[in-house]
Amino acid sequence: MNRFPEQGRSREEVLAALGDHRSRDLKGDGRAFAFVYDAGEPLRELAREAYAACMPINGLDPTVYPSARKLENAVVGACLELAQAPEGAVGTATAGGTESVMLAVKAARDYARKTRPQVTRPKMLLPQTAHACFHKAAQYLGVELVSVDVDPVTFRANVADARAKMNPDVILVVGSAPSYAHGVIDPIEELAALALEHGALMHVDACVGGLVLPFMRDNGEAVPPFDFSVEGVTSMSMDLHKYGFAPKGVSVVLQRTRALRDAQYFACASWTGYSIINSTTLGSKSISALGAAFVVMQHLGREGYRAQTRAMWDATKRLVSTIESTPGLRLLARPDMNLLAFTTEPGDVFELADRLTECGWHVQPTYAFGPSPSHIHVTLDPGNSARVDQFCLDLGKCMNELPARQSPPEHVIAMLEAIGSAEAGLDPAALMSELGVSDGQLPTRSGSIHRLLDAMSPAARERVLVQFVGELFS
Ligand SMILES: Cc1ncc(COP(=O)(O)O)c(C=O)c1O
Repeated sequence: MNRFPEQGRSREEVLAALGDHRSRDLKGDGRAFAFVYDAGEPLRELAREAYAACMPINGLDPTVYPSARKLENAVVGACLELAQAPEGAVGTATAGGTESVMLAVKAARDYARKTRPQVTRPKMLLPQTAHACFHKAAQYLGVELVSVDVDPVTFRANVADARAKMNPDVILVVGSAPSYAHGVIDPIEELAALALEHGALMHVDACVGGLVLPFMRDNGEAVPPFDFSVEGVTSMSMDLHKYGFAPKGVSVVLQRTRALRDAQYFACASWTGYSIINSTTLGSKSISALGAAFVVMQHLGREGYRAQTRAMWDATKRLVSTIESTPGLRLLARPDMNLLAFTTEPGDVFELADRLTECGWHVQPTYAFGPSPSHIHVTLDPGNSARVDQFCLDLGKCMNELPARQSPPEHVIAMLEAIGSAEAGLDPAALMSELGVSDGQLPTRSGSIHRLLDAMSPAARERVLVQFVGELFS
């Protein structure tokens, strides 16, 4: 199957092969509390139609495909309005949250090169709870990270720590609205004031919250200021492929000024081919997800998003109250939105995740880092909201006689630490068999794997995961 076919196969045969490959994928049926942002079949069908209609478009050249420009301007314009951007603010459609964040960091770096040439080692103040894609941006773009502590109870960025770590090389301060793991909004006003005071830029990562928080505010919830209404916020990221309910592959990065966005662009006329001007990292690019985002946004309207947001927030409150009233469960932080983290005390959190999997749910087991203990993360979409009462019942059942936290055998941790710290010497096939992975899938009961990875240092875990994924794709 992994060979280039000598002879073509019939349409039915190849589509059947595709269906077969997809048969064990995570389903968008309201039972997955991660990865899926789904608002039901009618919207999915609408998005599918728009997606297919946009397939011939190459977003590389919006002068040849005016629809690419019109769709982008419509979606970006609507997002600027949601984010209360001032006159003169601009934006770009990207392929996802990671790309939006990477472009915001690139723009900040190149803007500083121009306006603050004395900065030779650019740095970014980054709360421990900010998404890993900022680490990726730092690594790719040569911007140094300065880690900012978070409060161990609220999991919001500690502004005093940010202030203590501020220095003349800081070009960018980051805050999340909200953070992915715990669903809490950083003190954006204070962080932005700090950035402004020191001539740094401020990015608000609203990848997951950008299309929910404005509607929560509309619904009368108390949402702290987190967008361009805050002086000092210079850029924002908002994902349409999350709570915009568009298919994967579309987000926006927004900038307060056009000069800042100019620093994001890449132009090249120094070769023998066509002169290039790219707003994003890709050259030729699909506009399909953007086209789908456009129709979904126009179809739902503010009214539709408000209704979806209300349902998700009601469900979140029911789940929070179940967690708080169930002995042995502990909510890590009070969430500001419909995603949250909880753990077990003294039970084994990875055993609980296995039991929930056996009940047909998909949750996200997450490892300890800094003040955040190992936990289960859940992100609620409208599909989950309709099933949350059943989830709460199953959660209660799964807590019955939950065994105490088990430690992985010392010798196995030592072996994995050794693997993780060695430059080479890991047999990836042996790793897969040690972990019980077959045909690229974790076993249903994968608690023992999570306990092992959780016990490792982050650096060793990163190296083991590189080998793991390398083996999946070999
Ligand atoms: C707050 C936040 N930022 C950035 C990202 C990265 O987005 P993506 O996975 O679309 O690249 C995520 C993804 O969950 C997120 O929640």
